[in-house]
Amino acid sequence: MSNNSMGKKLQGKVAIVTGGASGIGETTARVLADHGARRVVIADIQSEKGHAVAKAIGLERCSFFLCNVTDEDQVETLVKWTVTTYGGLDIMFSNAAVVSTSLQTVLDLDLSQFDRVMSVNPRSMAVCVKHAARKMVELGTRGAIICTATTAAEKPMMNTTDYVMSKRAVLGLMRSASLQLGKHGIRVNSVSPGMVYTPLAANNGLPTPEALEEYIGPYMSLKGETVTAENVADAVAFLASDEAALVTGVDLKVDGGIIAMPFLESN
Ligand SMILES: NC(=O)c1ccc[n+]([C@@H]2O[C@H](COP(=O)([O-])OP(=O)(O)OC[C@H]3O[C@@H](n4cnc5c(N)ncnc54)[C@H](O)[C@@H]3O)[C@@H](O)[C@H]2O)c1
Repeated sequence: MSNNSMGKKLQGKVAIVTGGASGIGETTARVLADHGARRVVIADIQSEKGHAVAKAIGLERCSFFLCNVTDEDQVETLVKWTVTTYGGLDIMFSNAAVVSTSLQTVLDLDLSQFDRVMSVNPRSMAVCVKHAARKMVELGTRGAIICTATTAAEKPMMNTTDYVMSKRAVLGLMRSASLQLGKHGIRVNSVSPGMVYTPLAANNGLPTPEALEEYIGPYMSLKGETVTAENVADAVAFLASDEAALVTGVDLKVDGGIIAMPFLESN
């Protein structure tokens, strides 16, 4: 452990971040390392990008592991490799996800897109929770598991039926896993970002940040605030730390209050 990690809230922890080659996962990998994690393993299908992110964070505390989270064998290998190489696993941030390649209403549901979104989002998160938790139970680690959901699971966007369904399933996974794993001292929570302008958001045909700001800005409780990947990463670091020692089964929204959008303006 380096001296500059002494006294930090994730001091000495080993973390896996799925989808860590881009967007929210990339920023979270850096923030976990900044909070003193002694090793952050980025797991992603984007090899070149993932290696570059690990290098930028610092190879003395961050590694890249090529892993397609839809493949259970690869996820099991990822967890085993992490424990064998770095001596433990304290934090699983199950974050990798996809959106449909086109927006679709329920009237036009394309089942090949639907199956892809379902297999990457809730199915692979269940596999990540399964293998991380099994290892934590085996090692007697009081670990923290965090999944990425979305504010849109409760406040759907138009024309994203499959994505919204997939993230509601993630909330179900988080809640039921927290119940089952509590007796082992393992906490399971989720983080629900509002809109963050990452490649995933851009690929989803969503409005530009400016158009989005114009649309949702008036309804945000925190006027003028745009959610950043850092805001989400800070919430993940909190949930991963002992500061959240009694927090489990919770979906932490990082959305500037959009979830509280009023039914009616009263004046
Ligand atoms: N960006 C937003 O506005 C927003 C809002 C709410 C929730 N989210 C959620 O945040 C999480 C991160 O999204 P992001 O916006 O950073 O997207 P992103 O596209 O920037 O990053 C997603 C990463 O997941 C990886 N990935 C995709 N499929 C994978 C697979 N099968 N195996 C391994 N890695 C895989 C990608 O290669 C990519 O690096 C997702 O769960 C997303 O649903 C994003």
